[in-house]
Amino acid sequence: MSALASEFDLRIPEPFSPSSLRELSRDAEGLISFLSDPLDSSFLEGCPNLRIVANYAVGFNNIDVGYALSKGIYVTNTPDVLTEATADLAFSLLLAVARRIPEAERFLREGRFEGWGANLFLGQELFGKTVGIVGMGRIGKAFARRCLAFGLKVLYTGPKPLPRADEALLNAAFLPLEELLPLSDFLSLHLPLTPESRHLLDRRRIGLMKPGSILINTSRGPIVDEEALADSLLEGRLWGAGLDVFEQEPQIHPKLLLAERTVLLPHIGSATEETRTRMAWMTVEALKETFAGRVPPFLVPPWRERVSP
Ligand code: GLV
Ligand code: GLV
Repeated sequence: MSALASEFDLRIPEPFSPSSLRELSRDAEGLISFLSDPLDSSFLEGCPNLRIVANYAVGFNNIDVGYALSKGIYVTNTPDVLTEATADLAFSLLLAVARRIPEAERFLREGRFEGWGANLFLGQELFGKTVGIVGMGRIGKAFARRCLAFGLKVLYTGPKPLPRADEALLNAAFLPLEELLPLSDFLSLHLPLTPESRHLLDRRRIGLMKPGSILINTSRGPIVDEEALADSLLEGRLWGAGLDVFEQEPQIHPKLLLAERTVLLPHIGSATEETRTRMAWMTVEALKETFAGRVPPFLVPPWRERVSP
């Protein structure tokens, strides 16, 4: 941020709160926002000089992009640079849940390890199982590559099938969501949050998931009906879940905290030093280009379509 501070009047709301953010943003020409900052139309209306919002995230469901477009306010995000980091975290969650790593470690730290046991923390093997990937964009594909290396069969769903060559490369087969759910031993979500994807995994669809399966979510919490998921975990219908995102972050549904084989992380999908540094530079670059009177790089898709239809 020091590069910005020397060239621009940089303000950081401290202490951080929605009202201090609103206050500080009132005459801002550019904003660097986090996914936890809800920039709805009423917020944006309060910033009449705003020319750009550079979101420090790939997901941009926190911003009313339709309103920003109508006012000519650019919106940018940080795609690509966080793809591998997020896929690594999703895969880590899969291994952690399947092999019960956090649970076993808690047991040891509590001083309960009294010797090797034939039945101690039996988990699930990955090799030969079927993984269902919901959303085969950049991150979904990166996750699929990891699955291939571990000997998993890959099924996927999304708005449309990949080109044949991509399918062949990933050895992945397309299925409609409701056909994929009962076949997947492991299900991993890699799609953006939109009005259509909110509660995509509702109670009925969670009921279609294969008994004993594992759900991994590193995308956005509201894609899953958390209450229904927690019920399914506590009833033992699902084996476990690995969640990095939640419906009401930072609040965690109390029933999820009771699910033993479930691994819960504080939204750290892109949290590597390399990725976060690259994300920061992308937001700075987008601001600098805008202030220089040019169309910024890294525009979100609805803006890209306007600029080069
Ligand atoms: C993180 O969740 C992101 O969208 O970058
Ligand atoms: C997100 O950036 C994706 O395309 O998966």
